[in-house]
Amino acid sequence: MIVAANLKTNLTRKETREYVNAVENFALTNSLTQDIFVFPATSSLDTFETKVTVGAQNAYAVQNGAFTGEIGLDHLDEFGIKTILIGHSERRHILGETQELIAQKFNYFKELGFTIIYCVGEPLEKREAGTERMMEYIDAQYEGIDTNYEKLIIAYEPVWAIGTGLTPTNEDIVAIHTELKKKSLSPLLYGGSVKVNNAQEIMALENVDGVLVGSAALKVEDFCQMVTFAEELDKLV
Ligand code: PGA
Repeated sequence: MIVAANLKTNLTRKETREYVNAVENFALTNSLTQDIFVFPATSSLDTFETKVTVGAQNAYAVQNGAFTGEIGLDHLDEFGIKTILIGHSERRHILGETQELIAQKFNYFKELGFTIIYCVGEPLEKREAGTERMMEYIDAQYEGIDTNYEKLIIAYEPVWAIGTGLTPTNEDIVAIHTELKKKSLSPLLYGGSVKVNNAQEIMALENVDGVLVGSAALKVEDFCQMVTFAEELDKLV
């Protein structure tokens, strides 16, 4: 199982270090074997000596250059970062990233051998427009993306479920994950209002290979609890 924390625009560098250390200690103390990822805010990136994989929430598809406000490969290399989140709905919808730009980023970091957590998901009006329209919308988010890339992890995150406390029904999650598995055999995470009280149930669903957690991951004890759930589920298999 894969358990990933997207810290978004939260936690300073000092707080992030404490967070990563707490997760690392928890995993070591409890001999946990799950793949744990943490995505700190850009200015909280650092060199972490840990088995937890620390990745970037974003970077521009360039080594360095004149791209005000962005970071490039040099900045990731400084901290040995080889993992990146691409296509998150907040970057698509709030920052206005187009599929073209996202695919460009994907290909740039793919060529460099990065592990990529690639996010897809529909806004509410697309879901309400019916399965066919919703799948067309999601299909378009696969344009320009190599779904056979061996270091690809996909996260299905319905936009309307992110940070809202709403989640699709378990049946809906299974239905869409089953569809998405036809497009790519990469590990497939669910994201969107995953909390301690629903993580176990969601991770146990068919075709769910883990979770990408935002707000509920900010409380490190809760995130660690979700990693424990993943470990327990793995042992059952
Ligand atoms: P959330 O965010 O858990 O706060 O809904 C998930 C995400 O955006 O990855």
